[in-house]
Amino acid sequence: MKNKIYKGKSTEAIHAGESLTTHPSDAQEDQSEKSGIPLLPPIYQNSTFRFSSADECASAFIDEESGYVYTRWGNPTQQVLEEKLAVLEAGESALVTASGMGAVSIALLTALAEGGHVVAMETLYSATYNLLSEDLPRMGIETTFVDATDPNKVEYAIRPDTKVIYIESPTNPLLKLVDLAACAEIAKKHNITSIIDNTFATPCGQQPIACGIDVVLHSMTKYLSGNGAVIAGAIIGDKDFIVRAKKGALRNFGAVISPFNAWLTLLGIPTLPLRWTRHCENAICIATFLEQHPAVAWVRYPGLDSHPQHELAKRQMNGFGGIITMELKGGHAAGETLVNQLQICSLAVSLGDARTLVCHPASTTHSHVPAEVRQQTGITDGLVRFSIGLEDTEDIIADLGQALDAISI
Ligand SMILES: Cc1ncc(COP(=O)(O)O)c(C=O)c1O
Repeated sequence: MKNKIYKGKSTEAIHAGESLTTHPSDAQEDQSEKSGIPLLPPIYQNSTFRFSSADECASAFIDEESGYVYTRWGNPTQQVLEEKLAVLEAGESALVTASGMGAVSIALLTALAEGGHVVAMETLYSATYNLLSEDLPRMGIETTFVDATDPNKVEYAIRPDTKVIYIESPTNPLLKLVDLAACAEIAKKHNITSIIDNTFATPCGQQPIACGIDVVLHSMTKYLSGNGAVIAGAIIGDKDFIVRAKKGALRNFGAVISPFNAWLTLLGIPTLPLRWTRHCENAICIATFLEQHPAVAWVRYPGLDSHPQHELAKRQMNGFGGIITMELKGGHAAGETLVNQLQICSLAVSLGDARTLVCHPASTTHSHVPAEVRQQTGITDGLVRFSIGLEDTEDIIADLGQALDAISI
């Protein structure tokens, strides 16, 4: 592979990993005399790989770097994506998974292979919260949930058996921020693995590994693929962690991405930096509009001066993302009117799509979180979350304006 001569995010998103486009066996077998390699990485849509001799096959089992054996162990299409993600997140190595939750589970099972205790942010994506509060305790792994916006609370919760500090920033759906450098320092001081779910910020909006965080996770279902067509996840970290995850939990629990979904994600990533800029530009205009509307009680967006951690957002983020949360003065009933009136914005869970999506966390994404925990953590019944898309700003504002105006206050 030639040395990398670029460092811009757009160039990385387009070119990183793509020198792996040809399968090693293509070169060896010289099947075609024609020159030219595919510009777009091809899909290796196959489950297994053949060998030309028993020796070759045996050595692939001993030295897995020497070739591909079986797609649950690795596949060239997955590998192009992994190389690209490692470069984008400035990590040593990456691993792609069947879903974002696949990435969360595999990373936690790897870091907690010998058991232990987790200190986690109290407001997390609901399935992650459920995994930590219901599934892992059945395996003897306990979690202490803390308000990680205060790094002292994270350090205070550490026990002698703590193995992982687990955070999201910005959080889903309240857009609270965690000081990444401060958290990473605490983790290093106590010899604990720090893990962040970077889905909301993307590698364009935040570089956790550069801040000292050990492991970065993504639901690539969201901004990274950006097309609303796949469910996919990723883990980025040091080589040792990724090899342990790949040879252990990924292989044995089997949350492996299909080559087709890896390829669809590869189609999305080259436009991520452009899309990120546009999501951020649209979102700040819309957050400002919402903040001034009489039907709205408050708006939370890291790019607004009114966000309690706006200074931290400016320090550690590059753009504030496309997610906006707001509370309607009229609570649940107003929320219903709003979503029923919208014409361009779609009532749908998920985020990071080209289309603007709106959802009501209390009745959807966070409905499995106990009501008292929702209240404690600020996920109120009148909360509405927007994933601002790539449509023309004035059209989204017009749609939101007519829907908000229909709410009687
Ligand atoms: C922050 C975050 N992490 C992880 C996930 C899970 O991702 P997936 O649905 O790809 O499993 C989601 C899904 O919404 C999410 O919002």
